[in-house]
Amino acid sequence: MDGIKSLVSKLTLKEKCSLVSGFDSWHTQPVERLEIPSVMMTDGPHGLRKMDENKKTASATCFPSGAALASSWDRELLEKIGAAIGEEAQAEKISIVLGPACNIKRSPLCGRNFEYFSEDPYLSGQMAKHHVLGVQSQGVGTSLKHFCANNQETMRMRIDEQIDERTLREIYLSGFETAVKEAEPATVMCSYNSVNGMPLACSKRLLTDVLRHEWGFDGFVMTDWGAIKERAECVAAGLDLEMPGCNGVFNDEIENAVQGGALAIEKLDRAVERVLTFVFGAVKRQKEGVSYSVEEHDRLAREAAADCMVLLKNKESVLPLKKEDKVLFVGGFAETPRYQGGGSSHIQPLRTTSLLDALKERGIVFSYSKGFSAKSDEIDEKLEAKALAAAKTADKVVVMAGLPDFYESEGYDRTHLRLPPNQNRLIELLAGVCSNIIVVLSNGAPVEMPWEPLADGILEGYLGGQASGGAVCDILYGDKNPSGRLAETFPLRLEDNPSYLNFPGAQGRVDYREGIYTGYRYYDKKKIPVLYPFGHGLSYTSFSYDCLKLDEEEFEEEDVLILTCRITNTGDRAGAEVAQLYIAAPGIQADRAPKELKGFSKVFLNPGESKIVTFRLDSRSFAYYNVSEKGWFCEPGFHRILVGSTPADIRLEQKIMVRPGRVPRLKVSPYMTVREVLEHPEAKKEISFFVDRYTAKERINDQDGALNPQMIDAMFREMPLKTLTVLYPELFSQDDLETLLKRLEPYGV
Ligand code: BGC
Repeated sequence: MDGIKSLVSKLTLKEKCSLVSGFDSWHTQPVERLEIPSVMMTDGPHGLRKMDENKKTASATCFPSGAALASSWDRELLEKIGAAIGEEAQAEKISIVLGPACNIKRSPLCGRNFEYFSEDPYLSGQMAKHHVLGVQSQGVGTSLKHFCANNQETMRMRIDEQIDERTLREIYLSGFETAVKEAEPATVMCSYNSVNGMPLACSKRLLTDVLRHEWGFDGFVMTDWGAIKERAECVAAGLDLEMPGCNGVFNDEIENAVQGGALAIEKLDRAVERVLTFVFGAVKRQKEGVSYSVEEHDRLAREAAADCMVLLKNKESVLPLKKEDKVLFVGGFAETPRYQGGGSSHIQPLRTTSLLDALKERGIVFSYSKGFSAKSDEIDEKLEAKALAAAKTADKVVVMAGLPDFYESEGYDRTHLRLPPNQNRLIELLAGVCSNIIVVLSNGAPVEMPWEPLADGILEGYLGGQASGGAVCDILYGDKNPSGRLAETFPLRLEDNPSYLNFPGAQGRVDYREGIYTGYRYYDKKKIPVLYPFGHGLSYTSFSYDCLKLDEEEFEEEDVLILTCRITNTGDRAGAEVAQLYIAAPGIQADRAPKELKGFSKVFLNPGESKIVTFRLDSRSFAYYNVSEKGWFCEPGFHRILVGSTPADIRLEQKIMVRPGRVPRLKVSPYMTVREVLEHPEAKKEISFFVDRYTAKERINDQDGALNPQMIDAMFREMPLKTLTVLYPELFSQDDLETLLKRLEPYGV
């Protein structure tokens, strides 16, 4: 760092201004005079998109997209894929791979949901953390994006999101927080949007106070492409690098601000230092002569795609298919797979495997009828008729359905959750002529399934990367046992989604009125039935759970609680189970979701085998964000710990008493109510003298029988202290009020 500081001191102001913007779309700025090199970055997140000057993209392995990867619930897999991407980056001399994308799926309509992990912040944070660890294990940097709350594509470059502080902390920041604190990404990419009126690129609060001071981030912050706002203000706020390069257009703004005193030179120096610290480090970490095995990465992509697929339905074990089943495959996606999304994450794959290729390779005898095109949503009656005729003689029909490319992409949001009409119609018609219908889906986000009751099997394949055709074959024929779990809720209808009334907003503004109730938190609380819940996913085998043990009977703040339980494969196939741990808090101090995911563990078991899985909970696992105290608080009292195969299939449960080290402070005033004092675990003793007097004496007068005892009690609790002195001067005098307020002071803010 000292070397960097002295280098910075040799730079002219103009050179400094140039170094805080990119050289072009993908490079940092070099300064030949001082031998400052330039390094290259590319998109991400699920493979490399390295472009040359002619906008030609080099080939790379296309791994499953974020939505698919999160459905694996497999930290190790994320690290392996990250490491493979890092290896490819080293081979291509890339210093930063842009990603992972850690935004929350607020609405299933968001066009970029295929890149994002989950509707749940814990799962998103874990996935992002392990992706970063994987890529960075190869000496290549990551850019955790899009910080933060980039939850829609409509008006994406200027939308102002109104998000209350608790929701921001608990839902939209906490995944980023985990990845920053536990994986230390080299860079963070700030998003286009504004939060509560402040564009991210100039939000000192988020870029400096939260990211650096609270979470300890010490890499550099770059903008999303074109997300720069007031140039000098951004530097002052803690934005280090503007991307892509601006051809010097904004350099004068910075220079003038420094010369006019509006921007302290120290702030510009600091940004330059951070960028150069990375650049020189990256050059050192570059390895010579790295090459990778295209075969191996393709194998990993196939393995991963299979581990991500979610078996949603398997009526009467229609799956796995047997070699001797007479199977008809229908749907254009069987020959033209859709395996990645559109936009900046689009990869030029090294190779692709379609389902038809994989079936042939495996030596399966099958028939295929296109039925509909993968590229169009128009009904083609001739194709339909052929598929229906072929289905009549089949034992089982597998429909390769999904969203055509133009249905979802970066740049715009969907407006509905429907599959194309040609597909919905054909699935229903096929169900009329064949009794075993299996639907395999290729899509980046939830779809409605009007034909769901007619389907015997449903496999959610997501956008599974270049080898997804092979992976579908592996799952359908049982070479691999499905072990994916939904990382998001599939609602019955779009209208049920918690953001429905406030998405995507209007006139440049969107209100996050559902607050902390995103995804399953909302469906659970409102008891709204869904098509498939968060965490859902079936296997070809079965698992039992027992022996839940906690290493403590009570949890005190700052403790670490270790939980173990035993899982046994009770079926006759090897397979992996995802044990999920939820916490149900008392919800008295703060409104809480019925349960929140706080741990998970994926374990592979041979038939009859048992393993102990371990979960680790800390204060944060129990905590909510207290806005007035600006901090995380655990509620005192019993919390339920629920461990299960899915949230709807909780197998083990235990209560634990939580004893927080600190309690929220009171806002002491004559207008606080009796209830506020009584609810404070320590301060309540100060008011007991009055409660005793009140109970001993006659309580509120019920002169004409209008007040029942519950109402009398409620009125008493909701009474402001000052009002008591007016209504009950003989029980609670002005002196009593003053004494009480003094005694409450130590508990006050
Ligand atoms: C996207 C980023 C991407 C960047 C560079 C932007 O439009 O939002 O995710 O990394 O372009 O391609």
